[in-house]
Amino acid sequence: MSTQSTPTAAVHFRRKLAAWYRKAARDLPWRRTRDPYAVLVSEFMLQQTQVARVLEFYEPFLARYPTVRHLARARPATVREAWDGLGYYRRAANLHRLAREVVAQHGGEIPEEHDALRRLPGVGAYTAGAVRTFAFERPAAAVDTNVARVLGRVFRGRKALKGAAGAKAVTRLAEQLQPRRGGAAWTFNQALMELGALICTARAPRCPACPVRALCKWYGLSGSRAAASAAPPPRRSR
Ligand code: ADE
Repeated sequence: MSTQSTPTAAVHFRRKLAAWYRKAARDLPWRRTRDPYAVLVSEFMLQQTQVARVLEFYEPFLARYPTVRHLARARPATVREAWDGLGYYRRAANLHRLAREVVAQHGGEIPEEHDALRRLPGVGAYTAGAVRTFAFERPAAAVDTNVARVLGRVFRGRKALKGAAGAKAVTRLAEQLQPRRGGAAWTFNQALMELGALICTARAPRCPACPVRALCKWYGLSGSRAAASAAPPPRRSR
């Protein structure tokens, strides 16, 4: 899949998305920091857990383990206790092992390069991209299920982006669409996630409130337009 034939669509998409993000985005605590350790903690928590629940655990966890060195020194049982209520404890065990590796092998500094991040426990392609863009403000694809759905709908319409080939295509598309400037890439990636969470939801997308509906292939399909008008209006207060 390529955006080469429609460069203006990519520019339009970025502009509309960024403008919408500035006025509609939630003020989430991990968006106020560029500390790579804090960003990693948030990303580990957000794997498989809703934002509302993560909000209850993120700040207490950081108060208990304010740096990667604090976490590395902790006993596994206490880390598990701090994670209690979030579930999927494997994530806590991986985060703890990650902290120990960062201290042992990287002098206590979370690495910035994709390959070094990928070698850390529990860090897949998505998390590596998220840390690069959200902590280091680098252009990087951070494609989770929500982002894949948004990009698939906008640029592919009904043609599904499924399986390994689909994942590759959507990652490539996310890379092509990225602004080159780091700060703009940060906003772009946060905005894609926010659009997936607030507007372009899996089951009842709020197309009438969508900032990119004018260029969305999925919205352009007549069936989805009918479905969209039947969807509930956007929530105003969050
Ligand atoms: N899920 C994963 N990363 C996120 C972020 N930065 N904001 C909201 N939801 C997310």
